[in-house]
Amino acid sequence: MGIEIIGIGSYLPEKILTNAELEKMVDTTDEWITTRTGIKERRIAKDTEATSDLAIHAAKRAIKKANISPEEIDAIIVATITPDMFFPSTACFVQKGLGAKNAAVFDIAAACSGFIYGTAIAKDMLKNGTYKTVLVIGAETLSRITDWQDRNTCVLLGDGAGAVILKKTDSDSDILSSYLGADGNAGDLLYIPGGGSRNPATHKTVDDRLHYMKMEGNKLFKIAVRAMADSAKKAIELAGITCDDVRLIIPHQANIRIVEAVGKQLGVPMEKVFLNIQKYGNTSAATTPIALEEAIYEGKVKKGDIVVLVAFGGGLTWGAAAIKL
Ligand code: ACO
Repeated sequence: MGIEIIGIGSYLPEKILTNAELEKMVDTTDEWITTRTGIKERRIAKDTEATSDLAIHAAKRAIKKANISPEEIDAIIVATITPDMFFPSTACFVQKGLGAKNAAVFDIAAACSGFIYGTAIAKDMLKNGTYKTVLVIGAETLSRITDWQDRNTCVLLGDGAGAVILKKTDSDSDILSSYLGADGNAGDLLYIPGGGSRNPATHKTVDDRLHYMKMEGNKLFKIAVRAMADSAKKAIELAGITCDDVRLIIPHQANIRIVEAVGKQLGVPMEKVFLNIQKYGNTSAATTPIALEEAIYEGKVKKGDIVVLVAFGGGLTWGAAAIKL
């Protein structure tokens, strides 16, 4: 018995925000953003759309592909750092939106690594036999925690969602390995200081813009390369395979230069590394499921191929999974 992705779906909001438009908002240029990050444009959710709305769209597409009814879903895991509210969990809104009334539901907050963490949890839930069908979603509306006056961060981020339905089947497909890591000591390199129990929202925290994401990108860059390369190597080793067995590396899309450096450290050519950062920027927990869906849709990977998903993000957190499709 293995774990199979029986359905996958994604959702990107319609509104496109280009680098040219950002040039009018902050002191930046298309040239700087393109050469330093690889990003050309990103998607922005409508004012009426919250994270759960994006998640529901992606999940409905995955459910349709899986050809199951929402009632068959035993558990829903939503990875997000932009929940609709502190509580209920975003997963509760998703359950309601899908009519998945038999599902246990919860959120996990592991920033950009959230989907990898969610998949690892789902794998154990399925392997121990209690759950048979688990929906894992990475969904973010990062535009809501972006300081549109801060050129260091606002050019990087976007909104989107990706979802997979995982099921125990007797096919060859499987999550061959999961590797997770974290370093809370460096949490202040990427965080939102205000609005939580440490600095509850007040007029002052809002005036001081503490409810927006703060990032020390330069320091994160080096840690991201090392953590992602090491995580991918660990997942490959734990799966008992080599890099040559991997059809495609699907990395978190934070910066094209990070992705290229990770590819180099793994010794794989860029043809074996999936990139769509130019279209969507960094959508945190949503990047890897969106990228996996696109890779399948574009025919870059097919049933039986092995892919390695790898991510790094706030926390700090990181992780990788080797998956036989
Ligand atoms: N336009 C023009 N200039 C800019 C911009 C901009 N948008 N942003 C920064 N600059 C300037 C800086 O002010 C600095 O100017 P200075 O030299 O006069 O001080 C200069 O460009 C260089 O800044 P750096 O920060 O050194 O630029 P760098 O090449 O490191 O690129 C970036 C910055 C893109 C943020 C990069 O460091 C990066 O991608 N870091 C990793 C981000 C990451 O992986 N985050 C974790 C995941 S995200 C998540 O979890 C949600």
